[in-house]
Amino acid sequence: MSSIAVIGQGYVGLPLSLIFAEAGATVLALDVDEAKVDALQSGQSYIRHIPADRIRRAVESGNLRPGTDFTTVSHVSAVVICVPTPLDKHRQPDMSYVENTARSIGPHISAGCLVVLESTAYPGATEECLLPILESTSGMQAGTDFHLAFSPEREDPGNPLSEIGRIPKLVGGLTEACLEKAVALYGQVVQQVVPVSSCKVAEAAKLTENIFRSVNIALVNELKVIFSRMGIDIWEVIEAAKTKPFGYMPFYPGPGLGGHCIPIDPFYLSWRAKEEGLTTRFIELAGEINQVMPDYVVAKLADGLNDFGKPIKESRILIMGMAYKKNVDDMRESPALRILELIHERGGHPYYYDPFIPVLPKTRAHMQWRGMKSISWDSVSLGQFDAAVIVTAHEGMPYQKLVDSVPLIIDTRNALVDVTPGKARIIKA
Ligand SMILES: NC(=O)c1ccc[n+]([C@@H]2O[C@H](COP(=O)([O-])OP(=O)(O)OC[C@H]3O[C@@H](n4cnc5c(N)ncnc54)[C@H](O)[C@@H]3O)[C@@H](O)[C@H]2O)c1
Repeated sequence: MSSIAVIGQGYVGLPLSLIFAEAGATVLALDVDEAKVDALQSGQSYIRHIPADRIRRAVESGNLRPGTDFTTVSHVSAVVICVPTPLDKHRQPDMSYVENTARSIGPHISAGCLVVLESTAYPGATEECLLPILESTSGMQAGTDFHLAFSPEREDPGNPLSEIGRIPKLVGGLTEACLEKAVALYGQVVQQVVPVSSCKVAEAAKLTENIFRSVNIALVNELKVIFSRMGIDIWEVIEAAKTKPFGYMPFYPGPGLGGHCIPIDPFYLSWRAKEEGLTTRFIELAGEINQVMPDYVVAKLADGLNDFGKPIKESRILIMGMAYKKNVDDMRESPALRILELIHERGGHPYYYDPFIPVLPKTRAHMQWRGMKSISWDSVSLGQFDAAVIVTAHEGMPYQKLVDSVPLIIDTRNALVDVTPGKARIIKA
């Protein structure tokens, strides 16, 4: 088994490090965040769905070696980069994390080393952005002195079916030899490696997967708005449509997009397409539709309160679920933050309940909400709230008590379908 370094110990890098360490590889688990490295060293997990036990066992076995010293990559035969690739404030790709990583490792990689980029990026990024920095800082030539590849991560945190080893792994290499090395690396830990002809194809495939989701979610969000006006329940429509065994795949509406991937990745292609003088109309349109979903939800809330003779101003509104999707503790780009802000802008008093997010962390935008605490479910009197908005439907949320106590509930996830409504007025949004 090889020795590898995984750069970036977040939602993607940590599970990848573990799967290699558990297969017997020596894994240098590197990150710039000392708090994360300290946590790993003492066998703690900072990601809810990754058990501390797995980390502790991997560290104790000597296979998982957390650290911040990038010079140590000189000892490994492969380096896998899993750092963030967000958008900047102008919604353009921010490749600075990848560039900084390349500068940190370039001077230390040894001849023959394989470097793989797993961070999602635009087609061409591995060759146009990573390669030149690695070559200039290492003094070596890619494809000759060291190997270079791109392999997108397809994990879906919180979804047990997306365990890395069971998902086919796409790999594109700079040269045939690069591809062979990368296929051999991943072949040690995943059931199926799918080689493609270039890094660009692998990069484009990853974006295609996420653009497909963004566009389909936008389509179903648009249908939700139209059908709602016609008095038709979109959720029932989807249940009906999905009985067709071919030519249809269900996507579900919601309060807007969240997470590090779907709201961001499509715009990597938009940016790159602009360089070619092309427009990405589907991507832009899907972005527009998905981005206004929080406004649609708050408009439904205002309508509902209006029927009770109340404005949003001075109303006490409970947001149920702040994470960007169910059963995860990840707040990145969560539409719940925008909903919270819209309620606040209208003079309402927002509160939230999320057992996975006891305190709102620092986020890219919405800084003013950092430190806000989840209500304590057992000690708070739900009768004080004028309305609740179900934004994220974690499993096991106490909905019966909610409908028994709060007069108006805006349900963006069809979460109350099996709950006895009692006196509460429920509006799907
Ligand atoms: N989260 C997902 O579900 C998911 C799925 C598929 C692909 N991706 C892609 O994978 C990449 C990583 O995403 P993530 O969710 O793991 O991000 P993350 O923020 O959870 O983790 C990134 C880690 O990189 C570290 N880091 C930042 N700069 C660094 C540097 N210069 N050197 C070393 N470490 C550094 C950060 O401290 C952090 O721990 C992104 O490109 C993302 O688009 C994410």
